[in-house]
Amino acid sequence: MTRVLCIGSAVLDFTFTFDQLPDRAEKYVAQSADIVGGGIAANAAVAIVRLGGNAVLGARLGDDPVGETILAGLRAENVDVSRVTRTPGARSSYSSVYINSEGERQITNFRGEGLRLDVDAFEDVEDLDAVLVDTRLPDAALFGLQLAQRRGIPGVLDGEAPVDPRLIDAASHVAFSRPGLEATMPDRDPDDALRETAERHGVWTCMTNGALGTRYTHEGSILHFPAFDVNATDTLGAGDVWHGAFALALGEGMTATDAVRFASAAAALKCTRPGGRAGTPDRATVTQFLKEKQQ
Ligand SMILES: Nc1ncnc2c1ncn2[C@@H]1O[C@H](COP(=O)(O)OP(=O)(O)OP(=O)(O)O)[C@@H](O)[C@H]1O
Ligand SMILES: [Mg+2]
Repeated sequence: MTRVLCIGSAVLDFTFTFDQLPDRAEKYVAQSADIVGGGIAANAAVAIVRLGGNAVLGARLGDDPVGETILAGLRAENVDVSRVTRTPGARSSYSSVYINSEGERQITNFRGEGLRLDVDAFEDVEDLDAVLVDTRLPDAALFGLQLAQRRGIPGVLDGEAPVDPRLIDAASHVAFSRPGLEATMPDRDPDDALRETAERHGVWTCMTNGALGTRYTHEGSILHFPAFDVNATDTLGAGDVWHGAFALALGEGMTATDAVRFASAAAALKCTRPGGRAGTPDRATVTQFLKEKQQ
């Protein structure tokens, strides 16, 4: 089974749905609400397991009730949480997420307090096929990408702002979100920024851009893979599912181009289902979807 080490954030999301996002200092009544696990690396880890892989999560939690709930959610999804560091007295991270009827969302995140991560615990994770890191814990992410380099396996960076330049150097594949690329190379044409970053750092680069799809470097030029045309109702975690699926696909030995297609299908299907990462599809569903779409 393909095994991916995911390093970065694990949070709890308190989600609320409305017709329109709240924009005044008033009391609002949500149409529905939920409490779901979130965080970039944690969502990606869940996606990897649902898509048929094995995911080891490197994340930091407190020993508080929020941390307990986060861990229970990850265990229920069969994510390997043996490398999660729980710090006594620390406070875990959580977010409030407002989602409107178009699936757009507004997120407020509390980063947590007193959290730390034991990176040495990653060294003895055996049989890894890929490493995926987000930008939340730059030192731990750097350690993970260097581990990937030492083992000769793909090291994928989910390039959400702010992106530590050391991580771009250490990765083999950098998949920016649009805001991540714009913050990293301000006032640049995205295609030029992708090409230049690829050349300067010797990495494969791409930019995901929601319903506008993915632009990526291929043999010195930029190719575009359109997003699959779906009825998107909840885009929460779509990027995380994309990155988890992409890292898994590379770990399985797919080319980057095939991995973009696979990841785009997994993320598009997630957008059609409610509940943040709870809407992540399984492998059979993605395979069937790709067969039907022929894109
Ligand atoms: N509305 C949508 N319809 C179809 N596919 C989508 C849609 N939104 C996102 N996707 C797919 O998911 C990929 C990642 O989405 P996006 O670029 O929004 O990630 P992001 O900016 O990292 O956001 P986040 O991590 O907060 O979900 C897109 O490139 C696309 O393939
Ligand atoms: Mg993202």
